[in-house]
Amino acid sequence: MTVEAGELGEPSESTTVVVIGAGPAGLTVANLLRRSGVDCVVLERRSREYVAQRQRAGIVETRAVRMFDSWGLADRALGGIPYDGILEIRVDGETHLVTDSDGSEGPQARLCPQQVLVQKLTAAYLDDGGDLRFEAADVSLHDLTGDRPTARYRTADGTLRTIACTFVAGCDGDHGVSRTAVPDGVLSAHAFDHGIGWLTVLADAPPPAHPLLAVSPQGFAAHFPRGPHSSRYYLQCPPDDDPGAWPDPRVWDALRTRLGDPALASGPITDRETFRLRSLVHDPMHYGRLFLVGDAAHIVSPMGGKGMNLALYDADVFARAVRSFVHDNDDTGLRTYSQRCLRRVWNDQEFSHWLTRTLHDAGDATDAGPFQRSLARARLDRLFTSPAAGGAFAELMTGLDPA
Ligand code: APR
Repeated sequence: MTVEAGELGEPSESTTVVVIGAGPAGLTVANLLRRSGVDCVVLERRSREYVAQRQRAGIVETRAVRMFDSWGLADRALGGIPYDGILEIRVDGETHLVTDSDGSEGPQARLCPQQVLVQKLTAAYLDDGGDLRFEAADVSLHDLTGDRPTARYRTADGTLRTIACTFVAGCDGDHGVSRTAVPDGVLSAHAFDHGIGWLTVLADAPPPAHPLLAVSPQGFAAHFPRGPHSSRYYLQCPPDDDPGAWPDPRVWDALRTRLGDPALASGPITDRETFRLRSLVHDPMHYGRLFLVGDAAHIVSPMGGKGMNLALYDADVFARAVRSFVHDNDDTGLRTYSQRCLRRVWNDQEFSHWLTRTLHDAGDATDAGPFQRSLARARLDRLFTSPAAGGAFAELMTGLDPA
């Protein structure tokens, strides 16, 4: 990276890729570029402490584990607790085990909470000498369709800085600045509201034997391991319900009823919030020299655990494309980036939508009606009894499907 005096006297620097955002997408892009010998600077609005503790769920699917492995990063990037690939789907209290293993050789999926991934990717990047600037305020992007875009930001002490670059990786999530730097009318937004709310609860209570998804007449519920002594739970609720409407006794009663487990152990609840299930895709995923990566380009409803994995997929495709451009003067990967990522995005949106509808409609708490309910139950019956349907499900869960 070079440093020179800029106009107005502010420091002006130069690099190959400016990465906006240090979530899973930005940190993966940065680590992979560094391993490729490509210069980059990461600008993150928040502090390192804030980013490191931001709690979100996470299964790192088999494909993504193998992606990190192929870059020699699996041990340094992934933590969490072991996962045997078995998922329980409980219908009206009756257990059905499905596997997310497709029988292929190689490392398997990991239960790795997103903040563990973020902490480890941050440490790996900084240990390798990476340039990561926290508390970068007022980031703005300029000249994205020119040969030399610039990113401007303000440091914590108020100094204005400008970085010129060859490419910008917009990894700043759904509410970042990257996508808003694209003029109106260039991107098409395809949005879908599932009409479903979820209450999510974090508690110091024993984890289940397997990640558990439950269908019941009172609505959907789920129970996921978070650590040796902690769990995350989900309860279907009216969209935009107030978390205050869910005091502890109501939460535990609803979980015991919907999970069909009157003896479910409770524990102190440490976090509780509600959100709407929604899906969103922006097309195309680039504009000039700006490439949108992860949540900046798409939101997928949480059912199926694909949001973080799609971000990791985009990051890998983008880093490989830049590597080919920088080292081999080959722009094929950059030209096809959007098309390639969107194929997987829609593949995973379809899986997530299918699973969302199936597990909610099979209960009685949506407006689906008896016909949709019977269809959803037929889909579950097929999943539990047909080896081919089970295989297709496992392939989608692993992310090893051909999309
Ligand atoms: N300037 C700099 N950084 C910003 C800005 C900005 N204007 N706006 C947002 N950021 C940072 C956020 O603070 C955050 O650290 O960008 C990062 C975006 O991270 P995520 O929202 O986690 O998005 P992404 O990296 O795409 O992660 C994939 O998958 O599981 C889902 O939604 C879940 O966040 C997860 C996502």
